Amino acid sequence: MKRTHHCCELSLDHASSEVCLVGWIDSLRDHGGVLFIDLRDRNGLTQVVMHPGRDYGIDLGILKPESVIGIRGVVEPRSKETVNPGLRTGAIEVHVSAVTVFNISATPPFPLDEEKAQKVQEDLRLKYRYLDLRRPSMQKSLMVRHRTSKIVHRYLDEQGFIEVETPYLFKSSPEGAREFLVPSRVNPGEFYALSQSPQQMKQMLMVAGLEKYYQIARCFRDEDLRADRQPEFTQIDIEASFIEREDVYALIEGMLKSLWKEILNVEIPTPFLRMTYEEAMNRFGSDKPDMRFGFEIADLSGVFKESSFKVFQGVIAQGGVVKAINVKGMADLTQGELKGLEDAAKSLGAKGLAFIKAEGGEWKSPILKFLSEAEISQMKEMLSVEEGDIVFFAASDWQTACTILGRVRLDSAAILAKKGRMEIRKDDYRFLWVIDFPLMLRDEATGKFAAAHHPFTSPHPDDFALLETEAHKARSLAYDCVLNGCELGGGSIRIHDMDLQQKIFKNVLKIPEDIVDSRFGYMLEAFRYGAPPHGGIALGFDRLVGILTGKDAIRDIIAFPKTQKGQDLMARCPGPVEPRQLKDLRIAVV
Ligand code: AMO
Ligand code: AMP
Repeated sequence: MKRTHHCCELSLDHASSEVCLVGWIDSLRDHGGVLFIDLRDRNGLTQVVMHPGRDYGIDLGILKPESVIGIRGVVEPRSKETVNPGLRTGAIEVHVSAVTVFNISATPPFPLDEEKAQKVQEDLRLKYRYLDLRRPSMQKSLMVRHRTSKIVHRYLDEQGFIEVETPYLFKSSPEGAREFLVPSRVNPGEFYALSQSPQQMKQMLMVAGLEKYYQIARCFRDEDLRADRQPEFTQIDIEASFIEREDVYALIEGMLKSLWKEILNVEIPTPFLRMTYEEAMNRFGSDKPDMRFGFEIADLSGVFKESSFKVFQGVIAQGGVVKAINVKGMADLTQGELKGLEDAAKSLGAKGLAFIKAEGGEWKSPILKFLSEAEISQMKEMLSVEEGDIVFFAASDWQTACTILGRVRLDSAAILAKKGRMEIRKDDYRFLWVIDFPLMLRDEATGKFAAAHHPFTSPHPDDFALLETEAHKARSLAYDCVLNGCELGGGSIRIHDMDLQQKIFKNVLKIPEDIVDSRFGYMLEAFRYGAPPHGGIALGFDRLVGILTGKDAIRDIIAFPKTQKGQDLMARCPGPVEPRQLKDLRIAVV
């Protein structure tokens, strides 16, 4: 029973020819003894017909959905009434002369029908992932993933990049996540860390003179999982020597342009918009702004500087800001929706979420009595408030106020979209580069600095002087590629000067000398032997494929993903190991 065609191939052109098809029984209909089977393979479906009078050498009653069979038969046109224009092979059917049963399937634990499967608990689908992956939509996603990878390989090869594999068993690397540790049996008491990213190795490849490196690399991070995060995920990792930020932007824009064209047949305009981190925060309250809708944030500190509303005036007096956002046409939100917005704001550190509505020709607000005519009219003007709008206020330090309203902005848009008052289309692709990120983040409690991207990122040349005194005010040469509120990738121009790198470790990050030496000594040493200026980026491959397939969760485009708790429900891991294995590793579990 050697296959002659796949299940999406046959048409009227094949009428009267004898063919062999193999695949899974997608569905089975018994019409008074005549058995209609939709046979499915990776490519599609073909209807095959079995007649009760014929001897196929098997009892047809044993055939069950999801069983694997092969059939031989003759292609025949379907009668006019039975032509199915919705199916690629809907003009024909195959009348079976012989059947081979490869394997009868037990009844699947959930329906594999696309619509019904959507309603099945995800845990059950993950436990039987091999069944869930039989669904055409899941297979399509994996095929898009494959094609994305092929196009990326081709594009980067054409641009002169060479692929180099770097170790997964590595040492601690400062990408900001917790690491997975791997005990070394032959070096008792010592551990590898699974690579969080090839960051250090790709920089070493630049020192080694490779000039243009890339890798579609697996990365491991022990972080709290969300829809767009997995403990192991894939990056398109890139590094090049003698380049500047503009070169990275152009390279990535070209790559994304090819992908969008070849996979979605969509022309994306380049160059992408660029926006500084400060502007993104001020206008959209996010370092990954969704540019598909407006609702920009305004700074009303000037309006309320001398307000008699002490909440606002007091925050400004202490160096904070009052910011506001006008959500157009949402004045009629429900109590529940308002509560949801307030709770979200509070979870980000808001003391409250004051608002004012323009409804029924008047202002309505719990703080109306504290506001002067002048304040209201300035606010109205600055935010172009009209009947039916609602304005939310956040009074806080700059960062917190921006972040709160950034969240209110997104949540409000979601509310309006759900009510059908606003359209936020998945296929409205608004790419941008967010640039000039701060170099350091400062922990307000301890005053300590942490690298905002990673400690190898070059400070902005205009801000070198700030490093000694006010490092938190220094900008960096880091950039993020953002699409519709998602951070697709990030990178930076790196430090290639040993003295500067040492200064960042020791004077700014205040990492003790011995730790610098044990963690990064080899890098500092490498920089003594002629390190070229270099920079790069890593794009989240899973997120990219998620967007190209329109999937919200990256679990859907990873063949064997982990749950929120980091578990593989199919293979059942993580799990305990034999005491003997622990003994070999000289590890005790407490
Ligand atoms: P960064 O940590 O920003 O940079 O990671 C780059 C991109 O990888 C994706 N990503 C993830 N995707 C899925 N699950 C995760 N847990 C996860 N974490 C990150 C994101 C992110 O933008 N070495 C630097 C890059 C560089 O400087 O060149 C790095 O790893 O899309
Ligand atoms: P209060 O006087 O604390 O009851 O606050 C009056 C109103 O202002 C309430 O609607 C609060 O939600 C809101 N509010 C209080 N503090 C802030 C703040 N820091 N930013 C924005 N709104 C606030």
